[in-house]
Amino acid sequence: MIKSIGVIGAGTMGNGIAQVAARAGLSVVMHDVNDELLSRGLSAIDKSLQRDVDKQRATAEEKQQIVSRIKPTTELTDVRDTDFVVEAVTENLAVKSDLFARLDRILRDEVILASNTSSLSITKLAAVTSRPDRFIGMHFMNPVPVMKLVEIIRGIATSDATYSTTGELVLAMGKTPVEVNDSPGFVSNRVLMPMINEAIFALYEGVGSAEAIDQIMKLGMNHPMGPLQLADFIGLDVCLAIMNVLYDGFNDSKYRPCPLLKKYVDAGWLGRKTGKGFYEY
Ligand code: CAA
Repeated sequence: MIKSIGVIGAGTMGNGIAQVAARAGLSVVMHDVNDELLSRGLSAIDKSLQRDVDKQRATAEEKQQIVSRIKPTTELTDVRDTDFVVEAVTENLAVKSDLFARLDRILRDEVILASNTSSLSITKLAAVTSRPDRFIGMHFMNPVPVMKLVEIIRGIATSDATYSTTGELVLAMGKTPVEVNDSPGFVSNRVLMPMINEAIFALYEGVGSAEAIDQIMKLGMNHPMGPLQLADFIGLDVCLAIMNVLYDGFNDSKYRPCPLLKKYVDAGWLGRKTGKGFYEY
């Protein structure tokens, strides 16, 4: 039974995961490399929980209890006594590999290591550890407190026991686990990103304005956000990186990233986080 969890990374995904874990009653150790990143993560959690208090989905006391279950730290060894560790740091293979090799040395043998990667190979990340059978992909969606799905990705060596423990943890966190195998983009981004990329091609070729493309998908297909609005929300650098993973992984030209997407990323127009993408913020 998992009672405590280590969350590595206090960014958008990490602080969301820490929040839902603490809300489910788990003790959480949230790690990041400096105090400023940790305090930004904690204030995002505070803001999100305050929304629940304002909407009377939680009391101020419950909010306080949830926050008190999260211990922020800049010392990686502080996750030593946790029962399960999920990583949500930057999408960079070298950074994640180095981190997993260190965690592998710190943690007890039976502890499962999970990655929230949106597109890197789970099999490859697992291979840098001495526990590839206890390694799994745990892909949360943004915004974590709202989205029901956690895509669970089995690497080539992931054991059935690891899968079932992870699935139970996800259910305990109030989310729905869906099992897939390791493959470029898994299922979520294999299907989502080519749709976004195609919307960018439609804009690039002048088939329609950004507003028209988004309205068509919102009003015609009942998507909560249009694909260009969603791309801005995810981050255009992230979208481009994922398209490149698909393109390289399958060696298939159908996954080629749209030149307009590359140009926006070159310009530093990364979407909401930089104030400009397909829209201005
Ligand atoms: N934290 C907590 N709650 C939040 C929140 C946050 N960051 N953002 C929104 N919410 C809550 C609001 O409180 C509100 O709750 P109630 O309706 O119960 O009051 C609800 O979500 C809806 O929010 P809003 O009314 O403010 O706005 P909205 O109706 O436009 O919904 C949205 C916002 C939930 C983000 C919605 O637009 C949506 O679902 N968009 C699509 C998101 C999506 O596709 N995410 C996946 C991205 S891909 C990914 O993450 C993986 C990858 O690898 C790239």
